Amino acid sequence: METVETIIARLIDEVDYPHATELFQKLSGGKRLRARLILTIAPSDPSAPLLGAIVELIHAASLLHDDVIDEAQLRRGTPSVNATEGSKTAIMLGDILYSKAFSELTSFDPRISRAVAESVTRLSIGEMMDVGMAASFNTDRALYLKMLYLKTATLIEACAYSAAVLVGKDHEAHATYGKNLGLAFQIVDDILDITADEATLGKPSLNDFSEGKVTLPYIDLYERLDENEKQRLISNHAKVLDENEKKWIRSKMDEFKIIESSYAHASALCEEAIGAIGDDIALRSIIETVIKRSH
Ligand code: FPP
Ligand code: MG
Repeated sequence: METVETIIARLIDEVDYPHATELFQKLSGGKRLRARLILTIAPSDPSAPLLGAIVELIHAASLLHDDVIDEAQLRRGTPSVNATEGSKTAIMLGDILYSKAFSELTSFDPRISRAVAESVTRLSIGEMMDVGMAASFNTDRALYLKMLYLKTATLIEACAYSAAVLVGKDHEAHATYGKNLGLAFQIVDDILDITADEATLGKPSLNDFSEGKVTLPYIDLYERLDENEKQRLISNHAKVLDENEKKWIRSKMDEFKIIESSYAHASALCEEAIGAIGDDIALRSIIETVIKRSH
């Protein structure tokens, strides 16, 4: 991972614009799940750290743009770039990061550059669907899962596929692993938005619902509520929730064991991921860290 961080720093330096370097250095790196996945699948390949750095730059760019779109004030516990520097700067920094990443991607096998580039098209479509769906109270579970696949899982799928191509492993199996890992990751994210405290999350709790995002636990909850309660839930959609309403939502989720059923969904996806890669201990352990994480 040290090498990935060094390469990221070098790529930013190569952009040769000190203001961009300065802004980038203030960003928190996060878990580097995508780079870790690539290094785990292709540990011996000399270009794996560069590929890891590329996808982390793409991921960072997507989050910079996402925070503008979501009007998020916090990212990983610190003020977002759009909050401190304004949306224009956040968008342009994102553009610099992902165009630099794409320049570097051209040195890879076309199967890899195509897979990563196409995944960015899909994640952009997923983001567009997410925004569209947040405008009203979406109860369509299949549509929600499709959007999750596009918005989050597709880049992780492309990472696993590409790393497998690098070292000549079974790329279809690794793509299936990555897709299911990505979906499980996002469902756990949706759960943590409800269960984790604000200090751990680095953003307000139940923030997704306030942003208009009807995530899997809310879709499940809606199905279990009676007519009056359904209306109460809908009336809270896309609003800043007061403590009373937060308490009510949490108590109803407890009553119907909603968090448990969302976890069961994430666990089933993890089983599918494991089924694709068999007894690869390192890839199994990435699954463990995703499902058991607290932030
Ligand atoms: C986070 O979702 C957002 C994403 C994982 C993808 C965002 C994608 C784009 C903005 C497309 C543009 C892509 C590039 C490369 C410029 P979230 O809002 O549910 O998660 P959060 O709580 O972490 O904000
Ligand atoms: Mg967001």
